[in-house]
Amino acid sequence: KEKGLKDYFAEDFPMGVAVSPASLEGKSKELILAEYNSLTPENVMKMGVIHPKKDEFNWAPADKIVAFAQENGLKVRGHALVWHQQTGDWIFKDDKGNDVSREVLLDRMKAHIDSVVGRYKGKIYAWDVVNEAIDDNPQNFLRNSKWLEIIGDDFLTKAFEFAHAADPNAKLFYNDYNIIIPEKRDRVLKLIDKLKAEGAPINGIGIQGHWSVFNPSEEELQQALKMYTETGLDVQITELDVSLYKWEKEQRERRPGDSDEFTEERKLAQIEAYQKFFKVFREYRDKLTGITFWNIADRYSWLDHYPVEGRKNYPLLFDENYQRKQVYDSVIKFSKK
Ligand code: G3I
Repeated sequence: KEKGLKDYFAEDFPMGVAVSPASLEGKSKELILAEYNSLTPENVMKMGVIHPKKDEFNWAPADKIVAFAQENGLKVRGHALVWHQQTGDWIFKDDKGNDVSREVLLDRMKAHIDSVVGRYKGKIYAWDVVNEAIDDNPQNFLRNSKWLEIIGDDFLTKAFEFAHAADPNAKLFYNDYNIIIPEKRDRVLKLIDKLKAEGAPINGIGIQGHWSVFNPSEEELQQALKMYTETGLDVQITELDVSLYKWEKEQRERRPGDSDEFTEERKLAQIEAYQKFFKVFREYRDKLTGITFWNIADRYSWLDHYPVEGRKNYPLLFDENYQRKQVYDSVIKFSKK
C-alpha cells in the first residue's frame, strides 16, 4: 500500500484534516484514509450547529464524524466550544430578548460544555475550548464579545474548568489566528500567563495557520514557536492552508483583470512557502503535537468564499481531483522518515 502523509510523518506528528460529514464518502473518504490520521469537524461541533436552541441538539453530523474516526482508528480534535461566531443568540438572551446575567450565562455555558464534551468523552483527545478571544486591534487585549461583555474576562478560565470537569483526560487548547505576528503573539502569551495564574486547566496553544505565500516569514515563525513552546504547553498547527493572495486589505476585493488561475509562478511560490513552514515544523518536531490542514483538497476550501466570494484559491496539498499536487513531494521531504 502506498504511503500517505500520516506514514511519512509518523515519527513527527499526527497529520490531521478538517472534515464535514459529506466528506466521509467517495473519493474524499479514500483520500482521508490514505493520507491523514486525525480529524477536526470543520463546522458541525460549533455551538450554532450542534446546539441551535436551548433544549435542542443536532448530534447526527458530529456523531457521524466521531463514529467514522472510531471505525478507522483516527484521532479527533473537537472544535470549538466557546467562540464569538457561529453561536446562536439564544444563549445570551432571556425570553424577553434581554441579555441574561453572568450567572445564567455561566450556567448555560457549563450545560453546553457538559453536553458536548460529555457525549464524546474519551473519543475526542483534544478540544479547542476557546477560539479567537484576542482582539485584532493591537490596542485592545480581549475581543469585545457577548461572552466578555456578560461574564467578564474570566469567561475563558471558566470554559476551561467546565471542559476539564466534563472530560479530565482531554487536552484543552486555546486556538487563534494571526498569532505568529508579534503584536498578537505577545497578547496570546499574556493570555496564557493570565489563564495559568487563574488556575485554568489549559494544555495547549492552537496556531490556526491560515497563512499565505507571503506570510509569515521563517524568522517570525521560528520565534513564535520558540516562545509558545517555552510556555510548556502543547503546541499544534490547527488550521493550515496557504493562500495565494495577501491577507492585507487591498487584496480583499476582486479587481478588474485579477486572475485566479493556479499559474506556474503561483505554484512555485506556494511550494517555497510550504517548504519554509515545514522546515520550521521539523525543527520543532519534538514539541509540536499535531498539524491539521483546513480541508482535504483544493476542491473545497473556505478560501474560495473568503475574503472574496468566488475567487478560487488553491491552498492545500491535493488538487480539485483529490490528486497530490507538486507541493506534496516538497512537504514530505521534511518528515523524519
Ligand atoms: O450550511 C449552510 C448552508 O445550509 C447554507 O445554504 C449556506 C449559505 O450561506 O451556508 C452554509 O453554512 C456555511 C458553513 O460554512 C458551511 O459551509 C456558512 O454560511 C459559512 O459561514 C461557514 O463558514 C465557515 C466559517 O468557519 C464560519 O465562520 C467555514 O466553512 C469554516 O471553514 C470556517 O472555519 C474557521 C474556524 O472555525 C475558526 N478559524 C477560522 C476558520 C476560517 O474562517
